[in-house]
Amino acid sequence: MSGQREFRPLDGVHVLLTGGTGFLGQAMLEKLLSAYPTVRVSLLIRDRRGAPAARRMQTLLRKPVFRPWREAAGEGEWQRVVRERVSVIEGHLGDSTLPTLPGDIDVVIHAASTVSFDRPIDEAFATNVSGVVTLYEALAAAGADPHVVHVSTAYVAGVRKGVILEEALDHAADWRTELASARAVRAEVERDSRRPETLRKISAQARAEHSKAGPQSVARSAEDARRDWVARRMVEYGRSRAQSLGWPDVYTFTKALGERVAEELWAGASRRLSVVRPAIVESSLRHPYPGWIDGFKMADPLIIAYGQGILPEFPGLPDSVLDMIPVDLVVNAMLAVAAAAPEPGRPAYFHVGSGSRNPLAYRGLYENVREYFRRHPMPAGGRGHVRVPSWRFPGGDRVELMLRSSERAAALAERALLRMPGSQRTQDWMSALLRQQSDLEFLRRYSDLYEAYTQAEVIYDDSRTYALHQMLPDRLVAEHGFDPAMIDWRQYVQEIHAPAVTALVPGYGRRGGSRAASTRPPELPERADVAAVFDLEGTVVASNLVESYLWARLSTLPRSRWGGELAGLAAALPRYLRAERRDRGDFIRAFLRRYEGASEAELRGLADDVLGQALLQRVIPEAVRQVRRHRAAGHRTILITGAIDVLVRPLAGLFDEVVASRMHTSGGVFTGHLAAPPLVDEARAAWLQRHAREAGLDLAGCYAYGDSYSDRPLLELVGHPVAVNPDPALYVHARRRGWPVRNWGAHVRGAADALLDTVAVRPR
Ligand SMILES: NC(=O)c1ccc[n+]([C@@H]2O[C@H](COP(=O)([O-])OP(=O)(O)OC[C@H]3O[C@@H](n4cnc5c(N)ncnc54)[C@H](OP(=O)(O)O)[C@@H]3O)[C@@H](O)[C@H]2O)c1
Repeated sequence: MSGQREFRPLDGVHVLLTGGTGFLGQAMLEKLLSAYPTVRVSLLIRDRRGAPAARRMQTLLRKPVFRPWREAAGEGEWQRVVRERVSVIEGHLGDSTLPTLPGDIDVVIHAASTVSFDRPIDEAFATNVSGVVTLYEALAAAGADPHVVHVSTAYVAGVRKGVILEEALDHAADWRTELASARAVRAEVERDSRRPETLRKISAQARAEHSKAGPQSVARSAEDARRDWVARRMVEYGRSRAQSLGWPDVYTFTKALGERVAEELWAGASRRLSVVRPAIVESSLRHPYPGWIDGFKMADPLIIAYGQGILPEFPGLPDSVLDMIPVDLVVNAMLAVAAAAPEPGRPAYFHVGSGSRNPLAYRGLYENVREYFRRHPMPAGGRGHVRVPSWRFPGGDRVELMLRSSERAAALAERALLRMPGSQRTQDWMSALLRQQSDLEFLRRYSDLYEAYTQAEVIYDDSRTYALHQMLPDRLVAEHGFDPAMIDWRQYVQEIHAPAVTALVPGYGRRGGSRAASTRPPELPERADVAAVFDLEGTVVASNLVESYLWARLSTLPRSRWGGELAGLAAALPRYLRAERRDRGDFIRAFLRRYEGASEAELRGLADDVLGQALLQRVIPEAVRQVRRHRAAGHRTILITGAIDVLVRPLAGLFDEVVASRMHTSGGVFTGHLAAPPLVDEARAAWLQRHAREAGLDLAGCYAYGDSYSDRPLLELVGHPVAVNPDPALYVHARRRGWPVRNWGAHVRGAADALLDTVAVRPR
């Protein structure tokens, strides 16, 4: 063991721990508190989402990992121990300097890191490279001379084959150059995102998808798309730079550079440095209890997705070693490393994994997981249980081909469905498609991210780590040992790890029960400062502008002239449909021209008589019940529509207020023009905003009900949006935003259906 001094247990030392709120950090803090009674711990914690570090530590100590220790110590005692032995330093590891650190630190365990494989390049560098620089500079400035245990990862070795030794990495990447260029990327990408050709493309796409919801929605979507573009480019920059240098992703790339920083700034200044490189850390084998885990870790999304039946295959070599290691063994190894400090200026490296002494092949993991789910299948959303697929390991290329053709088919299906009229059947298809798309997105994301890990042909040699384990006195092995040979994989995967991660799945299966829950009408709180706003067509009545026009027009014509009227309307229909798809206001304007020359008084008379009765017959009963529920709760009920006021007079009694379009008249005759722009898409939202201000309404408490994507701005304005009988685009939006979707029994037919159906129209 060159460079190692003999093992001495940690006794009476002061440890500075970074990353204490994370998975490994929690396990480390717990072990220090429960098994090292003379050790003091300073935690470097950043403030987050408005919570200062001190408060975060209090929350941390209530987490499940500490439960056995807290219970064994008793409420008053554990709090006393924390007061005496634990202190907090608030600090963020990044480009700015840290606060002054204590001068009496003996050991630093630097575990803080961003561990995401697909972080934007500047963020990954800020924590994993800059943060390391600032930490070691702050330690040096504090005048302390601790032994630093720098937590890295086995995968810093990059994409290579064969046995990797526990020694300094062999690469020529210069951390200063890479850090400077990573810092410069964002400005460059932001500039690129604002180039006219990029913006033109983004805006055209936003118009095609969102023009129905209004110009501001288009502008907002374009800006969101630009930001997404920037975020994706920042990720791409990290990934491609990493891969060009032989690392699978920005995480392993920046961790490798972080090691160089530690070697140069800490060991290079004749100080003691140990670099610990764990492999894939998963749930505890024994301590603090078998199966402790803090959320899903690296292998777990795949395990759960497989149990849910959404992974028909996954890229990977069946004989590749998936190097998993329980978190308690990693903590024990790190503490043994901390206790056996190396010589100053001669860093020591330790792999902590299972691949060398007790390898688990990818196929072995798969077989154990399959056996587990065969014995404990996940529920299939009220339709029995999921039958997990059998993998044939066809190889990465074949899986990629399968994935690409499924993605293409799903994109085509989406385009077709978005053009279909809203109906329960369309919704069912859309819902199945959304599920399929989300499964494909999952598969795409993880097969891209994990490719290098599931196809790895490496073994991380752990001779140094094992030698350290052998130095443990026999009496300490049970509690502090970390030999991976002690793991029985079948027992670990099937009896410890799989039960632990499936327990994290809400309701044990993501597709169960949500549909039934979403159809139950929620309780309405009694409030006077709340309005419930209803769209008309498709939401309150199963009718539309075309149908009401036909009712009005045909009732004034002899039957002999119906054919001519219908033929004229049929010829104009494609134009109307195009206008409606583009902009609902354009459609209303174009269509209402048909009323040119009609007498206002005559139409009013019709509306009070046959038209009114026809309209009332079209009212959707569930809508009326919902209006009444709101009224009973003291809410102001408002009908808001692009239809003309004359035609909706019969509904006036149902609502407190009706807001409709008005036609321009000259001498009592409609000119075919509107008196003011129609209240559609953003105009509705603007109207409600002003009305809420004037009437003192609390928009967050208000409700809105709409059926079309053009209702999106109105729905987004209130705290309780409800998509009623939604068209496919609104349905997709509602599902993504988690809005309730209600099917109130009647879907309004599209304009074309209304026309074709007219044979059945029987005005008196
Ligand atoms: N988990 C694994 O499978 C695995 C495998 C090999 C190596 N490792 C290494 O083990 C270490 C811990 O990983 P983990 O799995 O415990 O990760 P984790 O659960 O994501 O925890 C990361 C910790 O780092 C802190 N942190 C992140 N960015 C920070 C910043 N800018 N300033 C201050 N604190 C920051 C986080 O604090 P917040 O709570 O404020 O976010 C959290 O405490 C890392 O160095 C990682 O590379 C992990």
